[in-house]
Amino acid sequence: MIDQLNRAHGIAGQLVFEAGQGGLAKAVFSNPHATAEVYLQGATVTAFQPRGTAPALWLSSQAQFKPGKAIRGGIPVCWPWFGPHPTDKAKPQHGFARNAEWAVTASALLPDGRTQLRLRLADTAATRAIWPHPFELEMSVTAGAQLEVSLTTRNTGPDPVEIGGALHTYFNVGDISRVGIVGLDGRTYLDQLDGNAAKRQHGPVTVDEEVDRVYLDTTDDCLIWDAALNRHIRVAKRGSRTTVIWNPWIAKAARMADFPDDGYLTMVCVETANAATDVRTLAPGGEHTLTQVVSVKRV
Ligand code: BG6
Repeated sequence: MIDQLNRAHGIAGQLVFEAGQGGLAKAVFSNPHATAEVYLQGATVTAFQPRGTAPALWLSSQAQFKPGKAIRGGIPVCWPWFGPHPTDKAKPQHGFARNAEWAVTASALLPDGRTQLRLRLADTAATRAIWPHPFELEMSVTAGAQLEVSLTTRNTGPDPVEIGGALHTYFNVGDISRVGIVGLDGRTYLDQLDGNAAKRQHGPVTVDEEVDRVYLDTTDDCLIWDAALNRHIRVAKRGSRTTVIWNPWIAKAARMADFPDDGYLTMVCVETANAATDVRTLAPGGEHTLTQVVSVKRV
């Protein structure tokens, strides 16, 4: 399979397919701007590192790399719903796209020197058993000085469908006690740790306890100011009016088997989402694209 992927989609010196952890196939990007990695499992971007900077994404040292299992870290794709299924708690949290193996459809070296990979997921008997709709999903990952990730949903069925989800990005930070996330001041959020109570954000978001919030009606960039790494990470987005901030803190980190006990100190999730009031209805033949653009700047 790896040989076949390299023959069909490899780009000499820029994009190589390898057997990654657990023997799962991954694409390794390397260009003058950055390095990056994408697993076909979940179409999960597990690494992005602009040259001369520390990794932008956090990947759990205890992540499991197994067919059918979401990878803890990087950019899991939550789809077609965010969080628990709205009516059936037996269905997988955050949908099924992050658990599925995606197919590579194309790769390209763009004229500006960026490297791009496209992956596809479409309905099967297994997906229809969980979610009874035909669909086509395309994930495009473009690595240059910035990382651009776009998830396009196409409704290939005869009925309208409701689509939620998120690019659930885990960012690497030097020391969570010295991080402030700017860009959500004055926004209303649903506090998932307080029965989804609506609250208002004052100033930057800081993390000194478990945080699990869905910020509503925001299309703004977030800046993750990181005093320990002397940088900020900009998270820009399109096709999203919800931003989720999550850090499990001590007790939840300890409960998660694939998350190291001290992992909460060096990560924060800033998620580009379609959740809560921002779930989209796609007419037959309709499509929706959710995009996140990540860039790192030394300060
Ligand atoms: C966040 C949710 O997006 O994802 C949290 O808001 C959840 O409630 C977290 O705990 C991680 O979810 P999971 O399914 O990957 O453990």
